[in-house]
Amino acid sequence: MKITLSVIKADIGGWVGHSSTHPEVVAAVKEFVDTKVADGTLIDADILTCGDDIAIVMTHTHGVDAEVVHKLAWDAFETGTKVAKKLKLYGAGQDLLAEAFSGNIKGLGPGVAEMEFEERPSEPVIVFFADKTEPAAWNLPLYEMFADPMKTAGLVIDPKMHQGFTFEVLDLIEGKKVKISCPEELYDLLALIGTTSRYAVKAVYRNYDGEIAAVASTQRLNYIAGKYVGKDDPVLIVRAQSGFPAVGEILEPFANPWIVAGWMRGSHNGPLMPVSFEDARPSRFDGPPRVIGAGYQIAEGKLIGPADMFYDPAFDKARQIANEMAYMMRRHGAFEPHRLPPEELEYTTLPKVLEKLKDRWEEEKQEQLSEDKQREQGEVE
Ligand code: F6R
Ligand code: MG
Ligand code: MG
Repeated sequence: MKITLSVIKADIGGWVGHSSTHPEVVAAVKEFVDTKVADGTLIDADILTCGDDIAIVMTHTHGVDAEVVHKLAWDAFETGTKVAKKLKLYGAGQDLLAEAFSGNIKGLGPGVAEMEFEERPSEPVIVFFADKTEPAAWNLPLYEMFADPMKTAGLVIDPKMHQGFTFEVLDLIEGKKVKISCPEELYDLLALIGTTSRYAVKAVYRNYDGEIAAVASTQRLNYIAGKYVGKDDPVLIVRAQSGFPAVGEILEPFANPWIVAGWMRGSHNGPLMPVSFEDARPSRFDGPPRVIGAGYQIAEGKLIGPADMFYDPAFDKARQIANEMAYMMRRHGAFEPHRLPPEELEYTTLPKVLEKLKDRWEEEKQEQLSEDKQREQGEVE
């Protein structure tokens, strides 16, 4: 059976501040979505939360970008927003940027990751969901899962994985995309996706047969809104086992926390901490950024799960390391590299603060070697 797995997420109000979601809001979203399972629009649905964000995980047969699915997610978030407004939760309805739904939810605020596939005899998938960070936070783990044989043993051992994977990379500034096949073009891939401020992996395909292996949400809220409206808190769907990386290979990158952009005011670098569902409530300095892993077996489209993949003492050490990294970054206070570089702060409230200095700048001539001297030293032609 060909099914579509859609994950659509939004921040429709935080409890308290930007730290978590309120159970009544989550219940309202769930109740609405359940009516769409009951009337047959969806095969199944589940609700996940991470920090102040809510994700609706849905299976159906309408394909990707289906208006009926996008609209019901929008309506569910609007229903939840009513409750969030009643409770005066913080930033109630903040990610519903448009006045009303029109055709496709992309570009209206919520984040979307969807894939269509023929359900295998057994179909394990993992939905990752992060708060206080951005889509490029998946670049490093996706590279390790699908292109690093030192992390994913299956790239060497499994005949279906041995031909590698193709990465679809999005240029978030120019709005273009390019496909890069690994291992042949591995260094090209890294040349792009190492620049996390600009490039994000959108999808990964298996070279053996072109099957889709992973897809991420890549919406950038601030570009859509034209001003800072929070980080984009991304989701990622990864298929596992039998010719895809094993569940343990997919989780392994998260055992070594890396630094991502986001955290306080979406303006700071900090470690991405893998946590259980229970611990997905960033509080310290509004963070540090964190990620949950929700595992499902899909059976005739039904979502058998979620299993809480980071609820495992084997990830305690990663959490401890992430905490140590958090202290190291916090030590820098208002300085880079904790604070993001200025280009990254363009859409935050910082430019407004600097505005008042704009007329006070005076010319200061920088001393430079004369052209003759530079020529002598071979630095100009
Ligand atoms: C980061 C985030 C928070 C807020 C911060 C200030 O993505 O959501 O760190 O940026 O709490 O929020 P405001 O400006 O709403 O007071
Ligand atoms: Mg928020
Ligand atoms: Mg959030």
